[in-house]
Amino acid sequence: MRTLIRGGTVVTAGGAVRSDVLVVGERIAAVADGLDLPAERVIDAAGRYVLPGGVDVHTHMGLESAGTVASDDFATGTAAAAWGGTTTIVDYAGHDHGEPLRQGLQRWMARAEGRACIDYGFHLMVREVDDRVLGEMDALVDEGVTSFKLFMAYPGVYMVDDAAIFRVLDRATGNGALTVLHAENGGLIDLLVARNLARGRTAPLWHGLSRPASLEGEATARAIALAEVAGAPVHIAHLSAAPALEAVHRARERGVAASAETCPQYLYLSLDDLDRPGFEGAKYVCSPPLRPRRHQHALWEGLRVGDLQVVATDHCPFNFHGQKELGRGSFARIPNGLPGVEERVTLLFQGVLRGRIGLERFVDLVATAPAKLFGLYPRKGTIAPGSDADIVVFDPGVERTLQAATHHMNVDYSCYEGMRVRGAPELVMQRGQVLVEGGGFKGRPGAGRFLPRSRPAAPSP
Ligand code: URP
Ligand code: ZN
Repeated sequence: MRTLIRGGTVVTAGGAVRSDVLVVGERIAAVADGLDLPAERVIDAAGRYVLPGGVDVHTHMGLESAGTVASDDFATGTAAAAWGGTTTIVDYAGHDHGEPLRQGLQRWMARAEGRACIDYGFHLMVREVDDRVLGEMDALVDEGVTSFKLFMAYPGVYMVDDAAIFRVLDRATGNGALTVLHAENGGLIDLLVARNLARGRTAPLWHGLSRPASLEGEATARAIALAEVAGAPVHIAHLSAAPALEAVHRARERGVAASAETCPQYLYLSLDDLDRPGFEGAKYVCSPPLRPRRHQHALWEGLRVGDLQVVATDHCPFNFHGQKELGRGSFARIPNGLPGVEERVTLLFQGVLRGRIGLERFVDLVATAPAKLFGLYPRKGTIAPGSDADIVVFDPGVERTLQAATHHMNVDYSCYEGMRVRGAPELVMQRGQVLVEGGGFKGRPGAGRFLPRSRPAAPSP
């Protein structure tokens, strides 16, 4: 099958140029202006941007947490991603204490296989570190699971100590993996949580106030120091706060291979949302928490100048009714996580319209840089001959309102309810197959493929 996408402006991280794109089978065959070649299908993209499919490197489809399960599974969550212009996710697989990493990975593979509508890879969340686990990591890197997340938060559940983090970083200098950190000071946070609950401070706002920005800054600086001593690259997940950004900035200035991602929720939402009346603040409980509004400016600036390289979602939705409500009476029992996989591309595009980032930088943040950093480039993340034909025809002019009534994520609320936005994916294609077109979904659960990833490209300071 040959498809010609004609007359659009092709935007890559390197520039925006009026070009036609020829897709042959699953791949992009040619990108040039005035391509006059035979094709079974011609798509008119005049007045539209032609973007690489989005790459969201932080999702949690069907994650078990706080006695419940994230409401999007691989079928619903990846369909919603496609609606929003994302054609690749890298989800976080996990293992139980004492369970081999591989066994956990196989469980996640089984959840995704036959269900995912878009292509997917996996990181692994590692709960304990010993010689056996380190050996498993070496083998998994060879098989395309090339990044591992360690937690400095959630004592007793996920948290590992500094020595364990160092051992993984040290091992990564040999096996080539990228170590991802959830950087918050979990021990101190647990103490503050217990103290606030004992004082009767049970409302969702106290989730945020129990996890101060300075403790994210401290943990981020500590993670980077460990990576510096090990001589290994490090990636900071879901960075939410100015002190953490400052730690990344200082590290990069002195030549440390540190990278970081933020998420749309930290760019658009704030502590004020956690403080909504009644129990509504529970909709906004995630970790790290939403911050006072002033942090948003710092994060946008971090995106613009390059201290932040990636925007991912940390998509981990729980319904308000029946799930977030588990925490009525104690913010500590509210399942942590927000929906967002569908809105990421559009929300970042608002940053272009508001003059915060350029068009090419937008594409870099939502597609190219995450693909490079996590070993998927140039197969994913760009529009170039030989790359997978993962393409979004994006209409920059269309106006709409974000709302739960019309979104496709399997969750009963939208964090952005009522927000007016401009721009929407008009056609979304993966490997030459149309997934979304003309307001209809044409994808299929099971069409998504597992992506073995290369060793990540070390982040350049
Ligand atoms: O609140 C969040 N982020 N939930 C998902 C799990 C994690 O910590 O990434
Ligand atoms: Zn996460």
